[in-house]
Amino acid sequence: MSQTVKGVIARSKNAEVEVVDIVVPDPGPGEAVVAIEACGVCHTDLHYREGGINDEFPFLLGHEAAGRVEAVGEGVTNVEVGDFVVLNWRAVCGQCRACKKGQPWYCFDTANATQQMTLAEDGTALTPALGIGAFIEKTLVAAGQCTKVEESDAAAVGLLGCGVMAGFGAAVNTGQVTRGESVAVIGCGGVGCAAIAGAKTAGATTIIAVDIDDEKLGNAKAFGATHTINSEKDDAVEKIRELTGGFGADVVVEAVGRPETYEQAFYARDLAGRVVLVGVPTPDMELTLPLLEIFGRGGALKSSWYGDCLPERDFPMLVDLYKQGRFPLEEFITEKIGLNEVEKAFDTMKGGKVLRSVVTL
Ligand code: APR
Ligand code: ZN
Ligand code: ZN
Repeated sequence: MSQTVKGVIARSKNAEVEVVDIVVPDPGPGEAVVAIEACGVCHTDLHYREGGINDEFPFLLGHEAAGRVEAVGEGVTNVEVGDFVVLNWRAVCGQCRACKKGQPWYCFDTANATQQMTLAEDGTALTPALGIGAFIEKTLVAAGQCTKVEESDAAAVGLLGCGVMAGFGAAVNTGQVTRGESVAVIGCGGVGCAAIAGAKTAGATTIIAVDIDDEKLGNAKAFGATHTINSEKDDAVEKIRELTGGFGADVVVEAVGRPETYEQAFYARDLAGRVVLVGVPTPDMELTLPLLEIFGRGGALKSSWYGDCLPERDFPMLVDLYKQGRFPLEEFITEKIGLNEVEKAFDTMKGGKVLRSVVTL
């Protein structure tokens, strides 16, 4: 028995999103149906709509979500009906080379549901954003995409499913920030602010926020930045060096995804510092760096993909920190909206003034 529910799709490149009827099959082996309670609006959703990811329209958008397991298929053991879960787009296989090497955050073969959700009007199969698709009343996922967490506010903890995890993990998992270190974060949107909050949680004592927007720098302070730099007014690299005894930061997190900010990140680190790249560039972007500088600087240059997270390890931990008042998840929520307001949320996002719009159901 399938069921028909409301969900938000992008039908074709750049077309406005629509709320339509979608058929959700009962979960097959290894699958679960989750009643979505909240789902954040992420840049990647807009990117799908703009055709920037692939051409597999129509897309079922939304991928940063929390909800309750409504049904599970055969062989599912990690979650049960009624569990409160955060969805993830990294259900690792345990079998590939990366998993076997003990580096499952590089898993080559992450699981998605094998059945498909379809348009009620004509049976067209939908491509779920990042294998999730959560701007919908109920969604079908692989059971491994569900991580059980303690009961908590869905709008807040749903954000762990993508941007906040990416930022926190960039600082804590990829950057390995430790107590007493200096951290510079370039770009203070949702991802950058999560990196700042992560650095604070890890015990960094100097946390420098860099942005071109003073309002974003104000946000950054609320998340734990000890210093701010407006890089349109001041030279970010010079200022970061000044604030770190002339050395550069132990860890620099780049959370913009542009050549000039990649370059700043490269030069703003201490000679033995780590640069973490979490901002996603477009395919046309290039950066030239002197080889001697690359050679001459030790430390590390690392990209961070989904904050190198392991959902089973990191989501419950972050929910605990949130519930203990040590990680301000609700501060990322700029507005709560309905399913029919996703298009408007994209406009607000383009205006650059939100951290996160969150669809609540
Ligand atoms: N220098 C510094 N900050 C900049 C610059 C720049 N040249 N250009 C833009 N910014 C700032 C913006 O003002 C904004 O505060 O970067 C921030 C980007 O934030 P958002 O647009 O909210 O994006 P966010 O969701 O935080 O994602 C940032 O990380 O995971 C990736 O795909 C994501 O590439 C994106 C990046
Ligand atoms: Zn694997
Ligand atoms: Zn996302």
